[in-house]
Amino acid sequence: MTASHHHHDSSDQQEFEEEAPPVASRRRVVGAVGLAAVGAAALSACGSGSGGGSNAADAPAAPATPTDVAATEDIPVGTGVKVDKDGVQAVVGQPSKGTFTAFSPVCPHQGCQVNPSGDTYVCPCHSSVFDMSSGDVTAGPATTGLTSYPVSVRNGRVVVG
Ligand code: FES
Repeated sequence: MTASHHHHDSSDQQEFEEEAPPVASRRRVVGAVGLAAVGAAALSACGSGSGGGSNAADAPAAPATPTDVAATEDIPVGTGVKVDKDGVQAVVGQPSKGTFTAFSPVCPHQGCQVNPSGDTYVCPCHSSVFDMSSGDVTAGPATTGLTSYPVSVRNGRVVVG
């Protein structure tokens, strides 16, 4: 029989302080609200499309406002796609990893629309070929390149305009 020294757990510290000021957590909440407000502002800034003007020409023009046209993973490295979204017609490609380009799809020869072909764009009418990085013509009969559009990547989305 061992008479062990059982400590009665008489808690000595009865006056621990219950009132830890929640400064830290309150600060975090404020920060989160601030971020949410910024996000909402950015969203609403992008949300106003549709200026109801009638396009005189039916030829695609440069996008008036930045337009989300695709996910980055929809355009693998070394390929391009043709997009027609929210009034924006363009050919968009990723000629090298992380680098995206966008051009008007209108062939400068006689106005047909080019198609993606590997890492080039090819016109179906008379077989002009355009470089996906620069838009420059690499084979005629066209003598000038495709018209470049601004393009950027935001949160995994490709934005043209
Ligand atoms: S219209 Fe494109 S090559 Fe002629």
